Amino acid sequence: MNLLIMGLPGAGKGTQAAKIVEKFGVAHISTGDMFRAAMANQTDMGLLAKSYIDKGDLVPDEVTNGIVKERLGQADIKEKGFLLDGYPRTIEQAHALDAALADLGIQLQGVINIEIDSSKLLERLSGRIIHKETGETFHKVFNPPAAGYNENDYYQREDDKPESVKRRLEVNMAQGDPIIAHYREKGLVHDIEGDQDIEIVFSDIDKVLSNLV
Ligand code: AP5
Ligand code: MG
Repeated sequence: MNLLIMGLPGAGKGTQAAKIVEKFGVAHISTGDMFRAAMANQTDMGLLAKSYIDKGDLVPDEVTNGIVKERLGQADIKEKGFLLDGYPRTIEQAHALDAALADLGIQLQGVINIEIDSSKLLERLSGRIIHKETGETFHKVFNPPAAGYNENDYYQREDDKPESVKRRLEVNMAQGDPIIAHYREKGLVHDIEGDQDIEIVFSDIDKVLSNLV
């Protein structure tokens, strides 16, 4: 299956992506995760990305389009399919993705659109914790680790500070609608209510995807 997962920052894209990958075996391509890995390795691309990400701005399209196209061209994608998380995020990126998929002879099969009111998101992002060893995402209140929360084993994202979150929400709200409209026209969009328990959100997504395979 070749899929996109879309939604505002904190909507639950990464949380649901992990579950989709586990059940359906697709490759998870998160542009945010790719940038954070490059930042951790202090590559040139990582240093460039950091100057945008920490403020909550978007990394320039030409950089982002390049890394996605390269990843989509790798051998495992045709075999396993993919779930793109956090891309496209501008209408220009959507057009670049259409062109890249056409070049590679790959057909997009569905867009999961997680809907949630923006008033819920600050609380989600400010409580997000990520396990240092496994990279798994939890929430201090909404999804605490089963083994208990030991502060030393977890970190919080730099861009989850309130100033960055405010900017991320502004940027993503301004860019999101034309992208969804682009895919709605193609009949690919499945709207999912994001303000529900994590397991219920997944069960709604699972129903949609089970009809696609
Ligand atoms: P990215 O990493 O994609 O961040 P984002 O879109 O802001 O989304 P998040 O990862 O913050 O949220 P999420 O929807 O994955 O939520 P999660 O599941 O973690 O991008 C970061 C930055 O990189 C961008 O700002 C930009 O600078 C750059 N970038 C990335 N892609 C780019 C692109 N295409 N173009 C240009 N720049 C790009 O959940 C959040 C929290 O809520 C967690 O704690 C979770 O446990 C909890 N939670 C999840 N679901 C529920 C639920 N149902 N109920 C209660 N709590 C829940
Ligand atoms: Mg994410």
